[in-house]
Amino acid sequence: MKQFFTTGAFLFLMGFVAMAQTPRNIVINANKTVAKIEPTMWGVFFEDINFGADGGIYAELIKNRSFEFSKPLMGWKIEQKPFVEGAVTVLNRAGENLPNPRFLRVKSGIDNQAPIAMVNEGFRGMGIKEKNGYDFSVQSRTAATGLKLHIELLDAKNNQIGSTVLAIQPSADFSKQAIHLVATANEKKGQCRIWLEGKGTIDLDMVSLFPEDTWKKRPGGMRADMIQLLADMKPGFIRFPGGCIVEGFDLSQRYQWKKTIGPIEDRQLIINRWNFEFPNRNAPDYFQTFGLGFFEYFQLAEDIGAEALPILNCGMACQFNSAEFVQLDQLDPYVQDALDLIEFANGAVTTTWGAKRAAMGHPAAFNLKFLGIGNENWGPQYIERLAHFQKAIKAKYPAINLVTSSGTDPSGARYEYLNKELRGMNADIIDEHFYRNRDWFLQNAKRYDTFPRTGSKVMAGEYASHADGISGNKKNNWQSALSEAAFMTGLERNADVVHLASYAPLFAHLDAWQWAPDLIWVDNLQSYGTPEYHVQKLYSLNKGHKAVETSWNKEVIAGQDSLYASSVVDTLANELIIKLVNVSFSAKQTQIQLEGIKKMLPQAELILLNSPDPTAINSIEQPMLVAPKSSTVLIKKNKLDYEIPANSFVVIKVKLQ
Ligand code: AHR
Repeated sequence: MKQFFTTGAFLFLMGFVAMAQTPRNIVINANKTVAKIEPTMWGVFFEDINFGADGGIYAELIKNRSFEFSKPLMGWKIEQKPFVEGAVTVLNRAGENLPNPRFLRVKSGIDNQAPIAMVNEGFRGMGIKEKNGYDFSVQSRTAATGLKLHIELLDAKNNQIGSTVLAIQPSADFSKQAIHLVATANEKKGQCRIWLEGKGTIDLDMVSLFPEDTWKKRPGGMRADMIQLLADMKPGFIRFPGGCIVEGFDLSQRYQWKKTIGPIEDRQLIINRWNFEFPNRNAPDYFQTFGLGFFEYFQLAEDIGAEALPILNCGMACQFNSAEFVQLDQLDPYVQDALDLIEFANGAVTTTWGAKRAAMGHPAAFNLKFLGIGNENWGPQYIERLAHFQKAIKAKYPAINLVTSSGTDPSGARYEYLNKELRGMNADIIDEHFYRNRDWFLQNAKRYDTFPRTGSKVMAGEYASHADGISGNKKNNWQSALSEAAFMTGLERNADVVHLASYAPLFAHLDAWQWAPDLIWVDNLQSYGTPEYHVQKLYSLNKGHKAVETSWNKEVIAGQDSLYASSVVDTLANELIIKLVNVSFSAKQTQIQLEGIKKMLPQAELILLNSPDPTAINSIEQPMLVAPKSSTVLIKKNKLDYEIPANSFVVIKVKLQ
């Protein structure tokens, strides 16, 4: 028979087989704590990007409800046949300096003209659910009697799928009129038509339609399916409201929290800077109505058991855009906003801002512990502005932990400068951002091993592995998620340095996104978590209280033979939780030796997250294509023999006794 292998190739193959059969001896010592884990360790970062708030978690279905978009009738279509000029006009009370100056004046039935209808297209359509109730409301002003407003829900083909009639009460001032209706069919791309019956002139403003099945059934509340995905993660913190929207294109467009509380009709809308930031993903209909404001964010944090982490503008607009800075001698109002926010969150009801919180329905304090000053700001201009905030806030509220910016990148001159300055200022927490490719994540699993153990702590506040480099145009796939899982073993092992971590961005609407990848994708009716979502959730649900020594050949496991690992002990559940990541295309046989444990149950829970296809993504059609699967694994004489499948993230939970 013809010799198939050369001798060299044969020896190489035998060596390979021998290597494949030699288990990698991982040693975990549950008694050797390497880091205490903060309860805030794994959190979420919410920004109104990709239609995350308006058109996203804020459940309002009417777009441009107060006619304050740059084009006052954007999102609305006026229907009247034949069309009578001047039957609908947009009026502006500009002289009165109101937060919501525009309204619509409609002349109905004059000279026997045909009925006037106005159709709102929603946020790339409206998600309407069969048998679900909807709360319609409008602010109206009219002297006419007998006017009726017909409200109709429409499907994508303009068929009626729910209707009701609201008898308008005459009123000299704007007054809220409301009515409930029920949908008769499901529709992802629905619309809402309103039309007038009767004769008279009527002024309309704040036209609103909310589903009744909001999160916690709060009227005018949030989309329940999206918030449930967050709640399921049990995040340690929620950072809000951004991101770049905090900075604004220029200072006039910065996020001002005081304009986002109180009655919603008094919250002044501004353009969302993601409206025009990426010419290839323009969203001319993207505005911030602030129906979802700081009170609602605090309430959301409380609902999902997360620490609130608001970020405030530091007197600097986005340095990639206008780079407009407030003069240092005019910074006081910005600093005052920060002090007032702390009072709004924590102050007694007898204080000015505590009273406003109480008036909104929350007399108890929100117990704010963290506050961010600036988002991705950099340079000496940031440091000198930050110093003013730090001095004033620490003097009045020394217990508040300030989160500070290390700029846009995790390395380079800007980062080095800020890191040094911030540590010199004894900053509480330094926020680091990294949007990088898969290799960066794999190569940086040891990033924090060499960070100082005293002084400033780190928040890995925005990170994402981008499958296609950092162009930000592709959806998440399994390979990018796996590289984050590998990197996160390094965060966990260094939990004494890294106190907070969050993926970014959080939400994206499939028909209205500006930035990808993102953690959770939605359309108007459904939502699903990406492979990354499951990675983040597995870390968060298996956070533990202390990271313990995990080694191979007495070294931390951070890429040798494509393996990554870390372990924690949950002292309340009395569990040792092991995280293993195999980023190679071959399975890896391991023998895991468990030390420092007197007794344990012989059967451990094993959660496997993997896919044979590294480019696999989840979708509306297959929301759980890449999702965790549970099984068990046996431990014999403190040893666990386990072959980690190719391209896998594994969590093993050992019950200690
Ligand atoms: O997460 C998207 C953007 O990325 C954030 O707004 C900003 O902080 C970063 O540049």
